[in-house]
Amino acid sequence: MAIAIMCSGGDSCGMNPAIKSFVDYCYEKELEPYFIYEGYDGLIDNKIKKAKHKDVSGILHLGGTIIKTSRSKRFLEEKYRKIAYENLKSHNIDKLVVLGGNGTFRGLHTFAQEFDLSFVGIPATIDNDIYGSDYALGVDTALNVIKSALDDIRDTSFSLKRAFVVETMGRNCGYLAAISAIISGAEICMIPEIKTNLESLEKKLKDELKHGREYILAVVSEGANQTDNLVSWINDKLKMESRSIVLGHIQRGGNPTVYERLMANEFMIYAIDELLKEKTQSIIIYKNSKFKFIDIKKVMDKKQKIDKNILKQLEKMTK
Ligand code: F6P
Repeated sequence: MAIAIMCSGGDSCGMNPAIKSFVDYCYEKELEPYFIYEGYDGLIDNKIKKAKHKDVSGILHLGGTIIKTSRSKRFLEEKYRKIAYENLKSHNIDKLVVLGGNGTFRGLHTFAQEFDLSFVGIPATIDNDIYGSDYALGVDTALNVIKSALDDIRDTSFSLKRAFVVETMGRNCGYLAAISAIISGAEICMIPEIKTNLESLEKKLKDELKHGREYILAVVSEGANQTDNLVSWINDKLKMESRSIVLGHIQRGGNPTVYERLMANEFMIYAIDELLKEKTQSIIIYKNSKFKFIDIKKVMDKKQKIDKNILKQLEKMTK
């Protein structure tokens, strides 16, 4: 039985450990594992090859994905999805494991409505915005990268008595910024999910500055689109020299953490077992320390929300 794996969208740490588990577990179950290289673009271009054990040796510690990924524009067109399906058929592949985020799953959902396909999607995006899942592959490593950056920035912030506004990734979701602000003791956090009360923030920080505060760390999510405004606001209202830094794509790289490697393996074993049971068109999620499968349609229809307790902690910052 042939089964293929593909990564699509932005790469994330944990993809390589998942790819290794895929190949190892397929051989254990006497399945034929295939790699689809370069995401949906590679599927359209028939970049499909049988995977061997040696392809996945020595990759556990690597960020990114050895089978590459893409943000395919062509896959949005039906004529290319037809070619993609024919390529799968030519290798007798009718089962897929797909690693990616919401864009990836949207493409998969459309594909599955048009052609007969069984698949499991594994959340793999540093944005951590897959409906129903507390966690996606890549989030833990990204948070650790941000944590180190904030620890380092604090040194100069402290020494020069400056404010630093640090922008994290997260296209529409403030999860990375929210967690990083909490674990780093930041004074300000701006995310799309919360409207910042600038008046009370000003009052609170002015009071702290009066009583000895010498520097400020602010974490702003890319999705809030407030980095430059906040720098100006700190300069103008708090009269403190401030700088901004956009952490950017370094958040996607690095050495996958212990948690990421363990979760990659768990996700993959559950996903393959599910594919072996019956036809499925689902996303595996991790919720309240349990793995579950949700129909892809439901994942597409709903928006993931940040946990209420996390939001409450952030709201306290401005009180
Ligand atoms: O993979 C998710 C993500 O890193 C988002 O946080 C960010 O908005 C986007 O991808 C950046 O995409 P690209 O690498 O294509 O510029």
